[in-house]
Amino acid sequence: MLATTLISLALASCALAAPSVESKKRASCDISKATIAYPQGQSLPAPTHTPSYIAIALGTQNYTCSSAGTYTNVGALAELFDIACLYNTPVFANIQDSVYDLWKFMPPAISAQSVITSLHGSSSPAILGQHYYVTNPVTGTGASPKWDFTSQGATKGNVDAYVVAAKSAGITAPTGKQDVDWVQLKAVTGKLAAEIYRVDTRGGQPPATCTPGESTVVKYVAKYWLLGSSL
Ligand SMILES: *[C@@H]1O[C@H](CO)[C@@H](O)[C@H](O)[C@H]1NC(C)=O
Repeated sequence: MLATTLISLALASCALAAPSVESKKRASCDISKATIAYPQGQSLPAPTHTPSYIAIALGTQNYTCSSAGTYTNVGALAELFDIACLYNTPVFANIQDSVYDLWKFMPPAISAQSVITSLHGSSSPAILGQHYYVTNPVTGTGASPKWDFTSQGATKGNVDAYVVAAKSAGITAPTGKQDVDWVQLKAVTGKLAAEIYRVDTRGGQPPATCTPGESTVVKYVAKYWLLGSSL
C-alpha cells in the first residue's frame, strides 16, 4: 500500500518527464537555469553553481534530549524523488504540502527506513537516492549530512555519486517555527554536488522540552537543490 502510493507519486513526476539521451547523466529535465524562489525579503546566499538536481524528500529528523531538557538534532534519514521535470509546472511551488500531507498521515509503524527499503527494488528513475548522516570525514568525530545517489536511477553503481557537506548558512523557515530551517551547505567530499540548499521545509521540529536521555524522530518534507555536480 505504502509502496504503491509512493511509486504513484514517483511515477506521476516521472510521467511529466521528457527524458533525452544527453540528459541521462543528470536530472531528467534541463534545470540549468532554474532558481530557488524565496518569499519577499528572505533568502540564503546566492549559489555559485548551476542546478544539477531538484528533489522532494520525505523522512525524519532525529533528536536526542540534552541535559538541559531540550532536543538536539543528531541526524536525519530521507528518500529523495526527482522533481526537476516539475519545475515550471503549477505543481512545483507547493509539492511539499501534498507530500507532507501524505507522509504525516501514514501510520507511525511506517518509518523513513521502511519507505526506503520498500522502494529499493524499484527501478523508477524518479527515485534519486537517500539522505542520511555519517561520521564527519574530516575530523573523524561528530555527524555530517550525506546525500547518496549511488544505489538508484541514472547514478546507480557510480561510487562517486554522493556528497558529504557542511552547513554554510541558514534562515528560520519563512512558514514558521514548526518547519525546519532553510539551509545552504557546501561540499566537503564527493562529486554529486558542490552546494546544497534545503528549502520549502514542512515539519521536522522537535517538541520544545524533553526528559534528558530521551530521543525522538520527527517527520519532515523538504526540497533539496543540488548544484554544481561534477559527475
Ligand atoms: C535517524 O532515525 C532513523 C529512523 O527513522 C534511523 O534509521 C537512522 O539511523 C537515524 N540516524 C541517525 C544519525 O540518528
